[in-house]
Amino acid sequence: MVQIRENVSLKQLNTFHIEAYAKFYAEINSVSDLQELIQDKTFIHSEKLILGGGSNMLFTKNFDGILLKNNLKGIRVVKEDGDFVEVESAAGEVWHDFVMWCIAKNYGGLENLSLIPGCVGAGPMQNIGAYGVEIKDVFSELEAYDILSGKKQIFSKEDCKFGYRESVFKNESKNKFIITAVTFRLSKKPKLNTSYGAITSELAAMGVKDPGIKEVSQAVINIRSSKLPDPKLIGNAGSFFKNPEVDKAIYQNLRIRFSGLVAYEMESGKYKLAAGWLIENAGLKGYVSGNAAVHDKQALVLVNKGSASGSEVYALSEHVLQTVFSKFGIKLEREVNII
Ligand code: FAD
Ligand code: EPU
Repeated sequence: MVQIRENVSLKQLNTFHIEAYAKFYAEINSVSDLQELIQDKTFIHSEKLILGGGSNMLFTKNFDGILLKNNLKGIRVVKEDGDFVEVESAAGEVWHDFVMWCIAKNYGGLENLSLIPGCVGAGPMQNIGAYGVEIKDVFSELEAYDILSGKKQIFSKEDCKFGYRESVFKNESKNKFIITAVTFRLSKKPKLNTSYGAITSELAAMGVKDPGIKEVSQAVINIRSSKLPDPKLIGNAGSFFKNPEVDKAIYQNLRIRFSGLVAYEMESGKYKLAAGWLIENAGLKGYVSGNAAVHDKQALVLVNKGSASGSEVYALSEHVLQTVFSKFGIKLEREVNII
């Protein structure tokens, strides 16, 4: 039977380590737990919020509804041929553990996404991405349940409407579906993607001459560990803002004024600006405001120096937004889900 607990502290359940309370809290260990919960009066009459690893959320207040912690476990191969394998993971599996499971079997495609915190079920929510790969590149389909009716629905790649840190689940379907399983199409003859950033130089520094997916994964882990703060040691939710996408004319204009500007041309002809560069060059790298700060190794990350409240971190994000806007005329958009 699913237990609904009351007034539960979320401090250990979000990687910012912000103290906040959920009025009601329930853990789902199976789809039948979910079906049972959906009939419950407290559930029906409360606002709902789904929680995975809490690594992309900022609680600025207590949550006055029911928080649903997804604990669904299990990994299985659902289809296989000579070249490809389809692997389904339950939504509550830890993302990095799932990536390591695939690498151990030499199933390629997820290695560049190593060490991203959180659970598998949240991956499609913002189309997680790193080092030149996004989840959409290896996504096959997902299974979700309508949180009100309990009806199962399969979402294809098109249904998910993936974009840069975007999907249907971050927009019109937000908190309407609980993702219960995700299926990935992985390669049994992996092609490596080492073109992004420092992967090639890191492989060279590791002394690797003939890399496979295991070595690429390790290179990504090394690079990430050198600049991103470990949430176990210092509270954070990764990049707090998105990298803004701007028209060519805006990019060219900025480039004239700021010769060091870091930007990448996209297929669409637009330019993606490195928000970390904008924040650093607005003079805010390492900036401290009470218990919240801009990380001193990666300015796109905001951190909790110990006992920050969610509103303190939010106020810092507002200061970053305004400072970047007054210097560059660019309005940053938050990537983290604000509660
Ligand atoms: P949560 O924070 O628990 O939830 C995130 C959102 O998804 C919420 O809106 C929640 O309601 C919803 N959600 C969660 N589970 C489900 C479900 N089963 N069904 C429906 N909705 C659900 N992200 C990247 O893309 N790339 C990176 O390189 C990256 N690096 C990071 C580095 C650090 C140090 C940290 C702390 C975070 C980083 N992130 C990165 C952000 C984060 O890890 C991802 O967004 C991750 O997918 C969040 O997973 P989670 O389980 O913690 O989700
Ligand atoms: N930069 C600076 N100063 C900084 C930070 C970055 O000048 O303080 C410049 C550097 O020139 C650097 C460039 O920005 O070369 C890009 O930085 P980095 O490679 O660290 O990546 P990012 O654009 O800051 C994005 C994702 C990360 C992902 C990395 C690697 C977003 C919002 N963030 O960061 O995702 O891990 O690329 O692919 O797209 C996350 O979403 O939480 C996250 C960490």
